[in-house]
Amino acid sequence: MIHAFAEDAALARAVARTLRARCAAVRVHRFPDGETLIRIATPPGRHAVLVSPLHNPNPRLVETMLAADALRQAGAQRITLIAPYLPYMRQDRVFEPGEPVSQRVMGAMLARWFDELITVEPHLHRVTRLADAVPCRRAEAVSAAPAIADWIVRNAPGALIVGPDEESRRWTFAIARRAGLEAAIGSKHRSGDRTVTVRFEKLPAARRAVIVDDIASSGATLAAAARALRASGIGTVDAVIVHAIFAPGARAAIRRAGVRRIVSCDTIPDPSNVIRCAPLIAAALEALR
Ligand code: R5P
Repeated sequence: MIHAFAEDAALARAVARTLRARCAAVRVHRFPDGETLIRIATPPGRHAVLVSPLHNPNPRLVETMLAADALRQAGAQRITLIAPYLPYMRQDRVFEPGEPVSQRVMGAMLARWFDELITVEPHLHRVTRLADAVPCRRAEAVSAAPAIADWIVRNAPGALIVGPDEESRRWTFAIARRAGLEAAIGSKHRSGDRTVTVRFEKLPAARRAVIVDDIASSGATLAAAARALRASGIGTVDAVIVHAIFAPGARAAIRRAGVRRIVSCDTIPDPSNVIRCAPLIAAALEALR
């Protein structure tokens, strides 16, 4: 039985279809004081699966933990969380004195409530294993790289694959290798939430580029990379991302920078969702059974 909040029903249904499983609703009542009451509509079996992308992290984390408790109270002995987007992964160390290691705090919290976790392309950098970030019994990171490479082969043949920063190097080259294309990596400097510059040392000759990144939040990274590519003479720039967070103004900033097409995976519901991860998530779930 795959349990899901109303907003995530489409993804839950897609995963369920692949596995011939059933879907059940998780209902949310919001009280006037801002508290929420969670109710699962259908009793779970011994093994419950909860689909909950955590892109609206603060309210959603609370609702997700309440749903886990509701499933346990109703008899579930094993709970798998499918969180296609995993927030708080970028703060994996104290960058400035006085900050927390948010990744560790959130990881411990999820591990307290869930036996297993399946996520897609978690932002892991200094901590490289998902199990070290979220220490539950099993933590599976599904890679969207093959699906992205296949999309590029079909829709942007011959393009230069561009990663905007060093953190994206391994992933960008994995996509480029599978697509049989050349790749380039930028050097990024962020001086504020929405203030980013990206530079490229040497770019292979190309008329068309596809920027690939795991997350687009403010859109500043994609916009800065696109501006640099266009300034170097590349005529057509597309962007393919995994997690389409798109904070207010992000899409417009990316478009203003000259990105022609913005495409994302379906880990966060968004009109740009084109690349389907549900079959990959279903395969990861099947492997856990
Ligand atoms: C950072 O290392 C990530 O891979 C993304 O590049 C970053 O989170 C994008 O954020 P924004 O859209 O706010 O620039």
